[in-house]
Amino acid sequence: MRLRTGAVLALAGSLGAAATATGAMREVEVRGARAVVDARAHDRRAVELVPGRSASLRAAPAFVAGLQARARSAGCRAARLTIEAGGRTRHFTVGPRFRHRALKLAAPLASRQIRVTTAMTSSRCRVRLDWLMVRAAASPRTLAPGLPLRSVPLGTAVSLPWLSEPAYTSTLLSAFRSITPENELKMDRTQPRQGEFHFEHGDALVAFAAAHGRTVRGHTLIYGVQTPAWVGQLLFATQVENVLRTHVATEIRHFKSRIREWDVVNEALDSRGRLSRNPFADRLGPRYVDMAYETARGADPTAKLYYNEFAAELPGTKQDAMFTLVSRLKQRGLIDGVGFQLHTGIGTAPTEEELVATMRRFEALGLEIQITEMDVAAKGNGQQSLAARLAAQAAAYGAAASACRRVLACKRLTVWGVTDRYSWRTPAELPLLFDVEYAPKPALAAVTAALG
Ligand code: XIL
Repeated sequence: MRLRTGAVLALAGSLGAAATATGAMREVEVRGARAVVDARAHDRRAVELVPGRSASLRAAPAFVAGLQARARSAGCRAARLTIEAGGRTRHFTVGPRFRHRALKLAAPLASRQIRVTTAMTSSRCRVRLDWLMVRAAASPRTLAPGLPLRSVPLGTAVSLPWLSEPAYTSTLLSAFRSITPENELKMDRTQPRQGEFHFEHGDALVAFAAAHGRTVRGHTLIYGVQTPAWVGQLLFATQVENVLRTHVATEIRHFKSRIREWDVVNEALDSRGRLSRNPFADRLGPRYVDMAYETARGADPTAKLYYNEFAAELPGTKQDAMFTLVSRLKQRGLIDGVGFQLHTGIGTAPTEEELVATMRRFEALGLEIQITEMDVAAKGNGQQSLAARLAAQAAAYGAAASACRRVLACKRLTVWGVTDRYSWRTPAELPLLFDVEYAPKPALAAVTAALG
């Protein structure tokens, strides 16, 4: 659905636990139409905002009433509502006599985000209300034609060579709103020899995405496993630090404004939560991670910076180590989100509740969350029928999608490839949403239904 100027955008969010308990509906309505948010469905509907167009918001009566009631019950005279959009901020005081037509923000949208925050006005009233936010799935150029709006966008890893195959490209465009270059942005590809940068393949993928209205996740600037061998031959820590900083700054600057979010460091931890060995860790120790984020932040202060990790979806030593690491980065203002890869299989896939608990743990740090590389091996033990295995796989995908939908901070679900034919796992594991002949599998229906 393409939004016309003045079409409806809806903002929804939580007014806190009290409101959730009463099941209150919360919404902000834009010019008439609306997305209703059911508290039990965990407060989210996505909206497409169109950069360059104006959005004008007005608060829906139910939303205003909820805010007024909350202010009253907290003993405050009024609540304050802040709306940020298109680089502009407006404040509104939602007092007893507030009328929703007073709440107007018509701003040309420079970004795809409108953020609404609520807080009590009087300093005596320190009750904090949750923030409300709507994130658009796509921009005008990125409005994925023909795809339904979803509260959580679905993305996929893409490899440049397969784009020349029509069935691959049409399948990709039939289902996915965003793409993650599978290897094209990794350092062994982008700086194969010291000082020799190659962005041609990354540029080609970004151009493909732009031409088809898709967004791109930047994956990844520093990844021990796919670091070119020459880095390991450098003898001194200062050399390695210079290489790391130059690499991160050069790549993120090259894609500035075209790639808005990056996995800055990928898989710094091993399966037991210790720092993984690689040329950066060996010469610089754990501070290499901080250096990468400092450099990325400095080189593109507007990019969303993520930390991406495998096998951290369930509680345990590894998740704790990741939590410690990202807490440190967050305290320093260097990170915006965490990615859980979710390479898994039937029988071992986390449940919806387990994923929700994990996501909430990181959400509490103030971080965004994404599922960044999901695949679910459905090989089985030879006893289950193919249909049963595909059903179990669909359930695992559905559980992850539902978990992401339930947690406000969860922004996207990306699967690690379009088709079983080209999965980095083996085609025999049947891990993705389309089979080797590009036929949709039960998992596709499960995931799209759960994303809402
Ligand atoms: C994989 C790619 O899919 C393969 O094509 C490549 O040979 C190796 O890397 N975790 C990650 C991804 O973060 O970058 C990896 O991608 C899979 C595991």
